[in-house]
Amino acid sequence: MSAQPLLKVNQLSKLYAQNKGCENISFELYPGEVLGIVGESGSGKSTLLNCLSARLPPNTGDVLYLKNNSQWLNIYQLAENERRHLLRTEWGVVHQHARDGLRMNVSAGANIGERLMAVGERHYGDIRAKGMQWMADVELDTQRIDDKPSTYSGGMQQRLQIARNLVTHPKVIFMDEPTGGLDVSVQARLLDLLRTLVTDLKLAVIIVTHDLAVARLLAQRLIVMRHGQIIETGLTDQVLDDPQHAYTQLLVSSVLTP
Ligand SMILES: Nc1ncnc2c1ncn2[C@@H]1O[C@H](COP(=O)(O)OP(=O)(O)O)[C@@H](O)[C@H]1O
Ligand SMILES: [Mg+2]
Repeated sequence: MSAQPLLKVNQLSKLYAQNKGCENISFELYPGEVLGIVGESGSGKSTLLNCLSARLPPNTGDVLYLKNNSQWLNIYQLAENERRHLLRTEWGVVHQHARDGLRMNVSAGANIGERLMAVGERHYGDIRAKGMQWMADVELDTQRIDDKPSTYSGGMQQRLQIARNLVTHPKVIFMDEPTGGLDVSVQARLLDLLRTLVTDLKLAVIIVTHDLAVARLLAQRLIVMRHGQIIETGLTDQVLDDPQHAYTQLLVSSVLTP
């Protein structure tokens, strides 16, 4: 683990009403680290992830990103177009619903190519070749590069979202319930792929999930949220095997009870 964090989050709050949203959140994310944000539905996970990923301005607090290992960017002090550029290049977002993360009515190849063009690629042949390579890397049939994602299955759409994000070699990926809407067997295969990718590419990931099995499989460290606040944080095995807070104990035991 490197000495410098990639992201610093300082006392970030975004509240819609009392206990609704996220409140006073501070933590750091290091290069290559996978951080899970867990908690029951409504605990504020998505609100927090949206604030972290430059898509929802907080009421108070900062998100700082270390660009090129040298320059701290204060995300919400950037101009809107700088934030958008970051999200199309060095950052990536994998949404629970593919319709939020893909353009459903242009080809799979164009969905991937769009991000390559954002990093300055102009050569059609190169863009197509890289698109195919990434489709293969996420175990998609490259012969379907000209098909629209609307013709893909749910699992394939998630793979395409991942390929689209990874093609620009992002430094940080934000994921909100990436396996949420899928059948169990499809989920398991996708999780397997995600685990391989994050390890091989040494990705820094913040993954929101209400599924502790997903958190266990992917995350090294966990933040447990309740009513918008962090109530427990620590190494994944510690938090899940020896939860300190009564709420975390409940969360863990309710998963273990069939
Ligand atoms: N745009 C919004 N306007 C008003 N309330 C919202 C909005 N988004 C989320 N909330 C509320 O904030 C709380 C946290 O929501 P959310 O962050 O989506 O939780 P989670 O992702 O953990 O299920 C919920 O009570 C939700 O109803
Ligand atoms: Mg959510």
